[in-house]
Amino acid sequence: MPYDEKRLYEVLDDFKGKKGVLIEALHGVQEVFGYIPEESIPIIAEELLVPVSEIYGVITFYNFFTTTPPSKYEIKLCFGTACYVKGAEQVLEKLKGILRVPIGTTTPDGLFSIQPVRCLGACSLAPAMLIGDELYGKLLEEGKIESIIEEYRNKG
Ligand code: FES
Repeated sequence: MPYDEKRLYEVLDDFKGKKGVLIEALHGVQEVFGYIPEESIPIIAEELLVPVSEIYGVITFYNFFTTTPPSKYEIKLCFGTACYVKGAEQVLEKLKGILRVPIGTTTPDGLFSIQPVRCLGACSLAPAMLIGDELYGKLLEEGKIESIIEEYRNKG
């Protein structure tokens, strides 16, 4: 769900006044919003009586936590053996060229991010990727990746 201060206070209510619950509380916040919004950090600090610097320390230490909002369309690009052999690297380069973001970073319009994954179980279609529930294969066919991204951009 989008960031909502009231919801944040509700999540933090369970942890108020308890010691050593910062990680648990951050999990709770990320579970609700999909990330830890920057604007939530001073509130978390105030509610749990921990310094802001400690919260940033925990977020930076654990890869699991992120302060970046999730993209609307996460592109799960297969790096299983069949896809790798059939050119997953080239697909990745093309995607990075079109979207202009590295792996794991959301595009400035909030629409896309690229995540490498293991075999999607569609090896006969290698190289393949998944966007939401939609599977796309044989991605190195001329113009295919460009038209898929365009389709999602138009959807917004
Ligand atoms: S290796 Fe990519 S779908 Fe199996």
